[in-house]
Amino acid sequence: MASSSDYDVVIVGAGPAGLMLALWLARLKIRTKIVDKRSVKVLAGQADGVQCRTLEVAHSFGFVQRLIEEGAHINEICNWTPAADGGLERTKRMPDNEPGTSRFPHVVLTQGRIERFLLDAMRDFNGLGVDRAVAPTNMTVDPALLTDFSPSSYPVTLKLRHLSEDEATPTQVGIANGLHRSNVLSDDEADAMHGTREGGAYALAGEEETVRAKFVVGADGARSWVRKQLGLSLEGESANSLWGVLDAVVVTDFPDIRLKSSVQSHGAGSILVVPRENDLVRFYVQMGSTDPNGERFDRSSISPESIVETAQRIFQPFKLDIKHIDWWTLYEVGQRMSPQVTLDNRVFLAGDAFHTHSPKAGQGMNTSMMDSFSLGWKIAHVVQGKASPAILETYGLERLKVARELLDFDYKLSRMFAGKPITSDGKPVSHEEFKKFYESIGKWASGTAVAYLPNMLVAPEREPRLAPGLPHGQRFESHAVVALADARPWHLADRFLSDGRWRLVLFAGDVREPQQRDKLEQAAAYLDSSAGPLRTFTPADDDLDSVIEVLTVISDPRTSVEPNAFPDVLWPPKKPYGSRSYDKLYADDSSPVTPNDRGEIYKHLGIDAKTGCVVLVRPDQVVALVCSLDDIGDIGSFLSQFMVPQQQ
Ligand SMILES: Cc1cc2nc3c(=O)[nH]c(=O)nc-3n(C[C@H](O)[C@H](O)[C@H](O)COP(=O)(O)OP(=O)(O)OC[C@H]3O[C@@H](n4cnc5c(N)ncnc54)[C@H](O)[C@@H]3O)c2cc1C
Ligand SMILES: *[C@@H]1O[C@H](CO)[C@@H](O)[C@H](O)[C@H]1NC(C)=O
Ligand SMILES: *[C@@H]1O[C@H](CO)[C@@H](O)[C@H](O)[C@H]1NC(C)=O
Repeated sequence: MASSSDYDVVIVGAGPAGLMLALWLARLKIRTKIVDKRSVKVLAGQADGVQCRTLEVAHSFGFVQRLIEEGAHINEICNWTPAADGGLERTKRMPDNEPGTSRFPHVVLTQGRIERFLLDAMRDFNGLGVDRAVAPTNMTVDPALLTDFSPSSYPVTLKLRHLSEDEATPTQVGIANGLHRSNVLSDDEADAMHGTREGGAYALAGEEETVRAKFVVGADGARSWVRKQLGLSLEGESANSLWGVLDAVVVTDFPDIRLKSSVQSHGAGSILVVPRENDLVRFYVQMGSTDPNGERFDRSSISPESIVETAQRIFQPFKLDIKHIDWWTLYEVGQRMSPQVTLDNRVFLAGDAFHTHSPKAGQGMNTSMMDSFSLGWKIAHVVQGKASPAILETYGLERLKVARELLDFDYKLSRMFAGKPITSDGKPVSHEEFKKFYESIGKWASGTAVAYLPNMLVAPEREPRLAPGLPHGQRFESHAVVALADARPWHLADRFLSDGRWRLVLFAGDVREPQQRDKLEQAAAYLDSSAGPLRTFTPADDDLDSVIEVLTVISDPRTSVEPNAFPDVLWPPKKPYGSRSYDKLYADDSSPVTPNDRGEIYKHLGIDAKTGCVVLVRPDQVVALVCSLDDIGDIGSFLSQFMVPQQQ
């Protein structure tokens, strides 16, 4: 029996990475404790901005609308460069993302609000909240239990100390009173006032508590305590760059203040402008760098005034009048990463705990949340006995690759933005090169191009490709379809909720053709058979779609087939009444409400409209395997390499 101090997962750190993981685990009802040494969450400043891919994930947890409504939207980017007359000229205007990159926009909103949405969603799923003013002091892993995955085995022991108010109050460089600085975030302001008292955080100050866990995740930021316990450190060679970051309300005659714009001046350096919610604008100004083994930059020489002055010099001849400063900081970062994210698959690192980079790449919060999005369901599968612990290996394989790419990207970007941009061979960067580079980064920055290499959870690519638009290892690219039963238009990925289920999408092709119809029926018979993956991997008492959900998309017109014509397993009866799952059947067609707007999913993904294909999608929306309807048995063989049969 688990005692009250035994947890499946203990998360150290409640920033974006820790909260995203806690949200996954709350959603999947995994016994979780999340602690943070700070007494309140971030209220103003720090990271802002969430890329399209992060919004897709927010959708899958049900809180995307809050982001879309509160955030500022980045739809266009502009570049300004020095003009011949000594002024500045707009040399480029382009969409922030290529049209069709994602069904969601790129949104910017302060980190504090994003954390708020994550916290609310966690609480709504199963009442999970953060234990604040708590930090670990000792962590031990029992080697004898490392490979014991039985329910009563808790190999990691953590000592947690409850902190006093002094220890738990965050200090941020340059901010006199970090907590009360923002005057635009009303309900979070209330957190600041009451957060510390909520649950009597300091009642236990000084006390120690011992907890046991199956898994511990260090999402405790760049100076990670957990990482140190593992004996790992962040490695990298480049200098730290020092950024002045300022959130302000301004009056200006610069025309692109509500667009994301980069401004490169004649000799005063460059600046990145990001429009924000509530009339705020964020300015990123590179203030200098520290050499890797040399002295630290003299921070005292930098103040909000000096950041403003630098910005004003860069903006000339435009006027920049700063009316209100909401938040500012000096943010010092280098491009560094830990060579590993775990030593024994019991203690993991996520987010800044294993990679740091400059804010110019604007990926810290995104990547951190996506680290945990990749990890959460895997841990849950193992805890729930659905999958072999071997799948945990894939976390490091997948996310270390992303971190490496991120650092590389950031390194190039930082060079481009440095006071006097130089290329890797030391030559000055021409404005042409600057522009070209900026254009090339869009897709990468949107997060939609992240690609995992083949591993246990990503099958090697097969030739010929039956769905060229769905490469193995990338997130499923969504297009609009229409539901057969109620004629409602959907984006197919709107159906891929983060509920821990795998999805098997049957692109059934043209089922008016008798031969194709036969193929679909054979595929359905396999799925319904006791040897098929649905019955093999689903516990006997659960609905047949509770581990793998099958969705069917035909290429025919919506009205050419009645829903009743499909085999039962494709729209299974639900417990307890046997009502039918009408929401599993779709067509590549327009709907009565969007008559001129067919999603053309077959065409966009390059799938043959007659013969179709089968796509297996992981619980994190990553494409695992594409095969033909004839080869549907390969889905079962693939899954049986790591899924645990449930003896139906
Ligand atoms: C002052 C500051 C300014 C920043 N400015 C920008 C910016 O302008 N633009 C940008 O893109 N990014 C910025 N960032 C980075 C961005 O906030 C991070 O990339 C992002 O938050 C990473 O998320 P994370 O969850 O991995 O780590 P974090 O957000 O750092 O979260 C770590 C959490 O762990 C807690 N913690 C740490 N150690 C312990 C411990 N021993 N015990 C318990 N809890 C612990 C911390 O209190 C914190 O809540 C800034 C970060 C900081 C700190
Ligand atoms: C952590 O706890 C273990 C077991 O109680 C103990 O042996 C070890 O010395 C402690 N480590 C530290 C750094 O206090
Ligand atoms: C997330 O990604 C977007 C798109 O690149 C970027 O603009 C934003 O600043 C990023 N946010 C953070 C804090 O990483």
